[in-house]
Amino acid sequence: MNVTVFGTGYVGLVQAAVLAEAGNKVVCIDIDTKKVERLKQGVIPIYEPGLEPMVNNSVSSGNLSFSTEAAFGVEHGELIFIAVGTPPDEDGSADLRHVLTVAATIAQFMESKKYIINKSTVPVGTADKVRATVESELSKRNRSDLPFDIISNPEFLKEGSALNDCMRPDRIIIGTSEADSEQKLRHLYAPFNRNHEKILVMDVKSAELTKYAANCMLATKISFMNEMANIADKVGADIEAVRKGIGSDPRVGYQFIYAGIGYGGSCFPKDVKALISSAQQMGIAADILAAVESRNERQKHYLVEKILSHFNGDIQDKTFALWGLSFKPNTDDMREAPSRILLTRLWERGAKVRAFDPEALTECQRIFGDREDLALCESKNDALQGADALIVATEWQQFKSLDLNEVKGALSTAVVFDGRNQYEPGEMRDAGFDYYCVGRPDTRSSV
Ligand code: UDX
Repeated sequence: MNVTVFGTGYVGLVQAAVLAEAGNKVVCIDIDTKKVERLKQGVIPIYEPGLEPMVNNSVSSGNLSFSTEAAFGVEHGELIFIAVGTPPDEDGSADLRHVLTVAATIAQFMESKKYIINKSTVPVGTADKVRATVESELSKRNRSDLPFDIISNPEFLKEGSALNDCMRPDRIIIGTSEADSEQKLRHLYAPFNRNHEKILVMDVKSAELTKYAANCMLATKISFMNEMANIADKVGADIEAVRKGIGSDPRVGYQFIYAGIGYGGSCFPKDVKALISSAQQMGIAADILAAVESRNERQKHYLVEKILSHFNGDIQDKTFALWGLSFKPNTDDMREAPSRILLTRLWERGAKVRAFDPEALTECQRIFGDREDLALCESKNDALQGADALIVATEWQQFKSLDLNEVKGALSTAVVFDGRNQYEPGEMRDAGFDYYCVGRPDTRSSV
């Protein structure tokens, strides 16, 4: 099928690559000339395992191309995806400016029926606004005769496993009331709907709300566990034992109940805030979501409090090795990453940081620039050299196994602050470490 994707951000680029790989003719449109030029040269602006070869293969086969020419994009695609950003406004609500600009652009250039598919995460009611925008632009052209439909088709991809999530989705949600649109999307998604039925067709508003409800539910699970971890601290329980204890009940399940130093990324923080803001505008008190959000903000400071307490409030001129900058493993994304709070608070108190991350060093450099109190290190071992303690902020695979002797030899004092509960407290104690983690009894080898 002929498909156009507006927006070459995370969602748009992955969607385009996967649809092109499945044999569709896909054109990606973006207003960012530099980005488009680089994409044409095979330079992928984000780190996502497998994305670069997939994009480049499809570009070579002629199934995928990039352009800044909106008119060309509108002419090409019978199915047109809107996958542009919806950054948070000051009050946390989603800013729809880009989505509505694309809607207007489609209406300005369309000459035949278009299936306009919302892929961006947008508040309930956005499809109505997109529809109104298209209608108004068509009427300005005296072309109200041109047919179109607005379909909500939210994405559920996770950074780091985006291609797999897109090619082997748990569910494909199609929000439309038109049989014709349903058929088009069923056809488009047929290659990804093998083995068992994954397509769920529903009305547009339910599809829009499903996206928020899914992310907010997952964020709620995390904040709940983080709150339990704080309680575990006070009562001397071990959150890891509690996790297994409750996860074994299939109604709770094992996934997304890991306590840590808070969720980050481009989705959870933004979507929780946006749904709170939508609820408030409708006069609904979003009690649960407000608590999810405030627990998460608090949780990002959790490790700093433990660090300050260990050093009796004085970390002036101390040096910390920081493993992990990205908000989670397998991405270079540092948006809303807990590491940012850690860095800022350590610097505020006069500490220095030697940081290592397998992918996010460039991003860290872009965000914080050159600073005397930040050394970006080439390896996890390099980061440790001479540091007063190790902090683990992201559970990258390569941090999971700790060479205790090596770490001890490199650090000036054997202290580890683990924000992701990666190591066994007993083993750490036996090896002579002071070991602090989340919701588990701290082990001080010296006491
Ligand atoms: C999320 C959703 O999972 C995905 O379905 C949606 O489409 C976009 O938002 P993503 O932001 O890529 O995906 O990351 P995810 O793997 O969900 O992790 C989010 C954050 O939660 C990370 O900071 C992670 O460290 C944290 N997390 C996750 C926990 O703290 N504990 C857990 O048990 C799970």
